[in-house]
Amino acid sequence: MSPRLVTTVVELREALEPWRGAPIAMVPTMGALHDGHLSLVAEAASHAPRTLVSIFVNPTQFAPHEDFAAYPRSLESDMAKLAGKTDIVFAPNAAEMYRPGFATTVTVGGPALGLESDFRPHFFAGVATVVAKLLLAARPDLAVFGEKDYQQLLVVKQMAADLDLPVRIMGAPTLREVDGLAMSSRNSYLGAEQRRVAAKLNLILKDVVAWARSGDLRAAEQRGAKALLDAGFDSVDYVAIRDAETLAVIETLDRPARVLAAARLGGIRLIDNMPIA
Ligand code: PAJ
Repeated sequence: MSPRLVTTVVELREALEPWRGAPIAMVPTMGALHDGHLSLVAEAASHAPRTLVSIFVNPTQFAPHEDFAAYPRSLESDMAKLAGKTDIVFAPNAAEMYRPGFATTVTVGGPALGLESDFRPHFFAGVATVVAKLLLAARPDLAVFGEKDYQQLLVVKQMAADLDLPVRIMGAPTLREVDGLAMSSRNSYLGAEQRRVAAKLNLILKDVVAWARSGDLRAAEQRGAKALLDAGFDSVDYVAIRDAETLAVIETLDRPARVLAAARLGGIRLIDNMPIA
C-alpha cells in the first residue's frame, strides 16, 4: 500500500495521533531514496509497528556554493519505493519548515567540531536545527540515522540528549554497492571513470585500518590521504582516526576508534568511514 503523503506539521500531528501509545519510528531523509535509505526504513519497522519517513531537502544545511538547487528531487518515485514499507511520508516544502521571520538555530559543539565542520562550517547547525524541528513535529519514540554520515549521527545523538528530546536515536550500518562504494544520492553525479575511482575510497579506508593497527595513527592518516590522491581523487579534505564515541583525536587504539574520510572527485565530494575494532 502507498504511504499517506502529508505536507504540513498540523496534518502530520493529526495523522500520528491515533497511533500514540505504541512506538512510532522515524527516518529523516532528503529523498532521492536508494537501498541505503530503505535499509533504515526496514530497521525502523523492526522496532515499531508504525513508521514514518520525512523527505525534505533542507536549504539551511547547504552553503551557497553547494548543490541545493541541483540536489536530486524525485518525490513520485520515492513514494513508489516506500510502498508497503512505511505508513506516512512527511514531505513539507521550505515555507512550511521555515516560516517568514524564522530566527532560531541549534548549534552543537562536541562531536560537531572539526572534520566536516572544517569544510562545511554551517552544515551541522542546519542539520541539528532541521532534525530538531522534524523530531518535534512528529515526536517519534525512535529515529534511525545512518553510520554513512557518522559525524552527523553523533551530532544528532548529542543534540537529542542535550535538549532532552524524548526520542531514542539509533545508528544503522552503511549499505554499499558490490564494489564497496557507500550508496549515496550524490553517486548519480559520478561519470563512469569517476565512479571507478570512487570505489577506491572504501578500499583505502580498509588499508588505513590495517596501517593504524600496526603503527603510528598520524602516519596511517597521511598514507591514506596519499593513497587517495594516487588512486585518482583530485583532493582530500581529511583522513582522520578518531575516538568512535566523541570524535576526539587519539594517539593509540586503546578504545573503539573510527577512521573517517572526505575526498573530492571533480566537483563531487564523497565521504565514508569505518570502525577500527
Ligand atoms: P540523506 O543524505 O538523505 O540521508 C538520510 C539518512 O540516510 C541519513 O541518516 C544517512 O546517514 C542515511 N544514509 C545515507 N546513505 C546511506 C547508506 N549507504 N547506508 C545506510 N544509510 C545511509 O542525511 C541527511 O539526508 C540529512 O542531513 C538529514 C539527516 C535528513 C537532515 O536534513
